[in-house]
Parts: sequence; structure tokens; C-alpha cells
Amino acid sequence: MVFQGLRLSLLPLLFSSFVGSDSISFDVNSYGNDDPTPFQTYLSNQDVKPPELLVTKNSSGLSDGFVFIGVDGKPTSGQNNPVIYEMSNKRLGSLIWTGNYTEPFDFKTQMYKGKPHLTMWVGELLNGYGHGSYYILNQSYSEVAHFSPVGYPDLGDLHEFTITKDDTALVTTYVAKPWDLTEFGGPADGWIFEGLFQEIHIETNQLIFQWNSTSHVGLNETYNELSGTGSEGSPFDWFHINSVEKDANGDYLVSGRHDARWVDDVKQDQITIFDNGPTDTVGYSRGLLLAVDQTAKTVRLMREFTNGVKTFAQFEGSLQAIDPGNENTNYFLGFGAQPFFSELNSDGEILLDVQFGKTNAVNSYRAYRLPWVGMPLTNPDIYYNLDAKKVAISWNGATEVEQWVRFSHVYKKKRPSLRF
Ligand SMILES: *[C@@H]1O[C@H](CO)[C@@H](O)[C@H](O)[C@H]1NC(C)=O
Ligand SMILES: *[C@@H]1O[C@H](CO)[C@@H](O)[C@H](O)[C@H]1NC(C)=O
Ligand SMILES: *[C@@H]1O[C@H](CO)[C@@H](O)[C@H](O)[C@H]1NC(C)=O
Ligand SMILES: *[C@@H]1O[C@H](CO)[C@@H](O)[C@H](O)[C@H]1NC(C)=O
Ligand SMILES: *[C@@H]1O[C@H](CO)[C@@H](O)[C@H](O)[C@H]1NC(C)=O
Repeated sequence: MVFQGLRLSLLPLLFSSFVGSDSISFDVNSYGNDDPTPFQTYLSNQDVKPPELLVTKNSSGLSDGFVFIGVDGKPTSGQNNPVIYEMSNKRLGSLIWTGNYTEPFDFKTQMYKGKPHLTMWVGELLNGYGHGSYYILNQSYSEVAHFSPVGYPDLGDLHEFTITKDDTALVTTYVAKPWDLTEFGGPADGWIFEGLFQEIHIETNQLIFQWNSTSHVGLNETYNELSGTGSEGSPFDWFHINSVEKDANGDYLVSGRHDARWVDDVKQDQITIFDNGPTDTVGYSRGLLLAVDQTAKTVRLMREFTNGVKTFAQFEGSLQAIDPGNENTNYFLGFGAQPFFSELNSDGEILLDVQFGKTNAVNSYRAYRLPWVGMPLTNPDIYYNLDAKKVAISWNGATEVEQWVRFSHVYKKKRPSLRF
């Protein structure tokens, strides 16, 4: 009995006569009860337990591409791996790939050496920042690069990992630095976090450029408060470097606390940003599309993007213009500290609204919809039960399989053959 794979990810084709659990499950009930960790299971691959999804809106008009989330759950949730889901109307929620990387941040695809790659930060999550390093995987899910900031081998921070057109990486680092904090009511021999970013040539690990917050932004411009920080063990995080992008002119767009992106890095007339929305302002988190007037030095709110339940996420989050060259692009919104993502059209209408774990138990720093072609070097996984006449097949990471085709072949006359 041979099944020849032509396509499929972790969603096996279940022949109509089968009743198997190797399919996408949307366990709405598990979100309504005390189950702390709604996850999916597969007969053919018992190693993977990706979050089970709760889809509250699913309409037509979704963009092409898969959904990428680096799941970072509380230890009890058991959810701590990068996952790629298919999120088309046809196969909504089918798992494409998950891998053995714990607490990944900023998991996405990027071009490296002219080809699409998977990229992520992996390391130790600390209080609002991280100590780790950066990974690049090719389309066969093999690691092709793994590096750290230059001069700070242990301080690779989780907030940013962007690859430029020159195959350099933009990464952030939180460096503790002595600082007189009397103007904030703190000690003269206090400590701050200096938000640094580096541009590093990935192949040679050569430092191209380094920027630091203290030399360019006044500490008196922070809206953060000392709140008991300012010691060497807990430096005052006045800048909280978050996103860095290099534009077509070679300038950098740097943001503290928010995910800021040029929609078009040549025209530079629109920025997307994720606004956590502290409770004393709007009271919910939202993506913002801002019109930027570089001459008048003003911004104007063009559009606000939020999900159906108006989630408030205290930290993290992202907004992606999915097809930035198209003025009618859809937008992808990730709620950071809370397990929700949404896709919206350019009018801000919600097309897809998904929850991927229990509130306050699971999150993803950012969420993206991106194209991806995966060709794993592994073999497909197969489960079969002759008595139950059940077969389930999956192939972690394979995107180019359309269906499984059955060949009937009886090896020995007396061997029981499977029938469907
Ligand atoms: C999503 O929409 C498709 C097409 O309308 C429908 O067949 C499918 O059942 C929906 N899935 C979920 C999980 O709501
Ligand atoms: C993750 O690693 C463990 C231990 O090495 C292994 O048993 C498991 O199969 C791996 N899971 C996946 C999805 O590769
Ligand atoms: C990925 O890298 C591995 C190890 O170097 C290599 O065997 C494989 O062919 C590469 N895959 C692709 C798609 O380039
Ligand atoms: C911070 O930036 C200033 C101005 O660019 C530079 O003189 C200084 O060396 C930088 N310090 C670090 C630690 O990068
Ligand atoms: C911060 O300090 C600088 C220099 O002392 C001053 O020019 C600037 O106006 C101050 N900014 C704010 C927001 O107070």
C-alpha cells in the first residue's frame, strides 16, 4: 500500500469513509471551559501540538500567503514554537509547519541571498527584552545562518530582526549603562538601558553601523516612569527600542515601544504602527495607518484597525500592510501580548478574526501573512490502523503537495488489503 504525496502540509487528506482526528479541529468548546491549553493533535505526528484556533470571522477576500506566529506561551500552556498556518477559506487553520525552536520572536519569512528564508530570534525572555540570537532557515528548514550582535554576543534582543536588500541584518540590543537619574527622582549612580541597534553583514559578521538611543534622543522625552527601576539589576528602560527599518535612501526608521513601518520606503508618505493603547487613552489596541507630511512635519490618522472584540494588549503587537504596493492592500494585525490576529481590508473591515490560545496564557510578539514555499528534507508521517481501516498522512512543512493519491497494491495474496 503506497500513498504518493502530491501536496499537503499537516492536513492529511482523509478519504470520505474515514473518521479520523488528523484534520483541522476548531474546538470552540475548549475555549468555553477550563482547558488552559486548546491544542490540536495528529495521529500521524504525535510530536506536534500547535494551538487550536477559534475563528470568529472568516469571509472572502483574504490575501494569499500563510500566517506566521512565533508562539510564546506560559510554561503550563505547552505552546512555545513557531507555527505556520494556511489561512485560506478553503483550508482555514491547516498547519503547514511547526519546529523545535522554543519561545521564538519575530518569526517570519525574509529574502536572504535572493531566496525566501524563515527567520526568528530565539533565546531567554527577560522582563520586556531578551538575551538570545538570530536564526535563518532555508526552504528545507535547515539552518543556514545563526549569529549574535557584534561585541555583544550574549545580548541579542528579541525586538527586531530585519534583513536588508544588502543581506545585512538589523538587530536590537539592550545594554545597561550607568546614568545620573536625579532628574527622574532616582539615584545619581543609577542605571539605564541604552537601546542600541546594529546593522550587521550576516555572512561575515562585520558591523556596518551602530546607533544608540542616548546620543540621539533626550531622556527627558520619555513617557516611561522610573517606577522602582534604575538599579544595575533593573535599569530604567526609558526608550524601549522596538522596530528598526532601513529605507531606500539608507536612512533608518527607529521606534521605541511600537512597530513602525514605512508603507512605501521610497515615497515615505505613510507609516503603519501598532498602538497598544494604554487604558487611559483609547482603552483598546489598534493598528494605525498614518499619513506623513514630511514638509509640515505632521501626521494625520487615515485608518484605525482593530478586531471584533477590541482586544487590549498591554505590550507587543504588529500591523502589516500585506501588499504595500497596492493602495487597496489588506492589513494583518497581531495583538502581541494577547492571542489574537485579524486580517482587514483597506477600509478597515474585518475579514478574518482568530484567537489562538487562552487570554493571558499564550501570545505571539508579531503576526504576519507572507508567501512561503517549503520543501522539507524529511519524509511524510503516516498513521494507519488496519482494523479501523484508517490512514492519516501529514508532512511537516511541505507546501507543494496538493493531494495524496492511493495506489492499491497487494504484496501477498493473504495479506489483508486496505479498502476505502
Ligand atoms: C470559513 O469559510 C468557508 C467558506 O465560507 C467555510 O466553508 C468554512 O467552514 C469556514 N471555516 C470556519 C472555521 O469558520
Ligand atoms: C523536537 O525534538 C524532540 C527531541 O529532540 C523530538 O523528539 C521531536 O520529534 C521534535 N519535534 C519536531 C516537531 O521536530
Ligand atoms: C538547505 O540547506 C541544506 C543544508 O545545507 C541543504 O541540504 C538544502 O538543499 C537546502 N535547501 C534549499 C531549498 O536550498
Ligand atoms: C553612541 O552614538 C554616538 C553618536 O553616534 C557615538 O559617539 C557613541 O560612540 C555611541 N556609543 C555606543 C555605545 O554605541
Ligand atoms: C529636554 O532637554 C533638552 C535639553 O536640556 C531641551 O532642549 C528639551 O526641550 C527637553 N525636552 C523636553 C520634552 O522636555
